[in-house]
Amino acid sequence: MRRPVVAGNWKMNGTVAEATAIVRGLLAALDGAPTAEVWVCPPTVWLTTVGSLLGDGPVRLGAQDVFWAEKGAFTGQTSPAMLKEAGVGACIVGHSETRGRFGKLEVLDTSLGFFAETDETVGLKVRSLLAVGLTPVVCVGETIVEREAGQTDSVIEGQIRGALGGLSPESVGSLIVAYEPVWAIGTGRTCDAAEAERVCGAIRGVLGSLAGTQQAESTRILYGGSVKADNASELFAQLNIDGGLVGGASLDPVGFAQIVLSAQ
Ligand code: PGA
Repeated sequence: MRRPVVAGNWKMNGTVAEATAIVRGLLAALDGAPTAEVWVCPPTVWLTTVGSLLGDGPVRLGAQDVFWAEKGAFTGQTSPAMLKEAGVGACIVGHSETRGRFGKLEVLDTSLGFFAETDETVGLKVRSLLAVGLTPVVCVGETIVEREAGQTDSVIEGQIRGALGGLSPESVGSLIVAYEPVWAIGTGRTCDAAEAERVCGAIRGVLGSLAGTQQAESTRILYGGSVKADNASELFAQLNIDGGLVGGASLDPVGFAQIVLSAQ
């Protein structure tokens, strides 16, 4: 049995006061330990603050990104060991936004090179996280142009093989994959539950070809992209969807708690 996971990605949102209010509101709304494993991923600068508010409670601390080197002259970056020391247990990698693939474009095309993550760098980040015992949450997903060109499955297969190829079967079984169609992120357009299930099943198939069916059966696969309290139950009821990666809706503690409770 795979334990469901619901992770909240706060992205670049929240003052200290707002972060504090979200955590307090979430802990109060959950009122105890839910069935699902729950993560919140605040901006890096608030990790330790949020970590002390969470304490040893039912909600765990996650990060939004990492750099793969152990230490050195890498201005602005955060290492896996630093995240671990800050109390982080899981880290998002390969989010479409760090890959420079935006569902709702708010920057000029010419600026997108700033967000330069590739399958290769995602793979380096995954390995560096596993090496210190942190759980990678590896995001994959197609743009609307790729979907309309019938390339959804091949794009996602390429992202998985490019980042996870060569990992040990046990590592593949221990990580979390999030299927996040780029066109559904922050747009209010959720992927139909049956189609999300089809793609997540295909992801499990690719993981099986990399690591064997048994390990692929252990990998938790999440859906992300406009998950809300009113669509979470249907998505999470699908056989191959083991929970959600929630962006905008994770900033509302009561709504996020409802989403967490939908993953039973
Ligand atoms: P959204 O974002 O829930 O705001 O669509 C999801 C994500 O980017 O992880």
